Amino acid sequence: MELDRWEQAVLDGERGEVLQKAMEILVALGTIYGADRLVPVASVQVAGVSYKNLGDAGRDFVAWWSERGATVRAPSMLNPAGIDLERWEELGFPADFSRRQAEIVSLYAAMGIMPTCTCTPYESGNLPKMGDHLAWSESSAVSFANSYIGARTNREGGPSALAAALLGRTPRYGYHTDGARLATVCFDVRAAVTSEADCGALGVQVGRTVCQGVPLFSGLPTLATPQYKQLGAAMAAAGSVALYHVNGQTPEARCRPVAPEGLECIAVESLEEGYAALNTGGEAVDFVSLGCPHASIGEIRDIAALLRGATCAIPCWITTSASALGQARRYGYYDAIEASGARVVADTCMVVSPIEEFGYETVASNSAKGCLYLQSWCKAETRFGPVADCVKAALTGRWPS
Ligand code: F3S
Repeated sequence: MELDRWEQAVLDGERGEVLQKAMEILVALGTIYGADRLVPVASVQVAGVSYKNLGDAGRDFVAWWSERGATVRAPSMLNPAGIDLERWEELGFPADFSRRQAEIVSLYAAMGIMPTCTCTPYESGNLPKMGDHLAWSESSAVSFANSYIGARTNREGGPSALAAALLGRTPRYGYHTDGARLATVCFDVRAAVTSEADCGALGVQVGRTVCQGVPLFSGLPTLATPQYKQLGAAMAAAGSVALYHVNGQTPEARCRPVAPEGLECIAVESLEEGYAALNTGGEAVDFVSLGCPHASIGEIRDIAALLRGATCAIPCWITTSASALGQARRYGYYDAIEASGARVVADTCMVVSPIEEFGYETVASNSAKGCLYLQSWCKAETRFGPVADCVKAALTGRWPS
């Protein structure tokens, strides 16, 4: 891998131990994956935030950098944490977990990383443009950036994202290069796709089929932004799809050929398989989780309209970024939701928070990604469907038949 003079000097230790270690991480990664050089990044999204995933060893890793004065060179934001940093006590998060979680966020913030704690940085003041090189971490955000925006990022782990933030660069391989961005299989969607839930079910089926490939969709109607969020998040969770194209819609598919000659095409006649995988629970629901990926202000507005004047029978959380929560307070959506007994929860989500300790057995969600992770990581049964059905479940404690 070729390094310029500054990069070589950093690697040689001439700019101090902290930057040298960061460069060693990027050079090792680039060498393993065949990068030709480093490229400047427009922004970084740093994962490795939730204490649930990090534990004390991860906390010590973050502290090593922070306590040595590491400072970011690229605009950088944090992935969700394990608690709502403001309301953890009221929401019932364990005190010891919360104290450790808050400390980790502070360590990152001391390095200049914005403690946004969101998986939708593109809705929280970090909107890249087509062709930008990024070093983002969270799988749904990576998919959105690559596919909907046409920016270029691999799915970074915590250490490589932090190193990219400190150096303002990332190794050029994988989705930073044209070749890796070509479709590997085409899906001709003949089933009706009319809702976000349909996009989630479709994403589960396709993600399981292509695993790490790059799907190209044909036959889809014009999708709205929340539908893209659900489609990409589902494929990232069901497989590890980091980039997809939609004929005539996503930016790269509109600008250049993305389908190599002779590309295999699979017809999707039905979404039944996806819906079946996401509906493992019975009729009784004891928790409702909305806002995965983190709800935008528009999505919060729609949920507020459904909950206004109603009363929830079971706990219902709408997880979002602190910035969308602030807007929701200003516009009255927050009050309408909270008056129903539901909670607008910032900085975290059901998957990275210690949900097991709350003891819920069946969770209803409008997120296919959320359902898959709740099943596998949190050992919960799930009910899956549109937001309106989830709200009905919140009001009755039963999944609507
Ligand atoms: Fe975001 Fe958590 Fe879902 S990180 S995409 S809300 S699982």
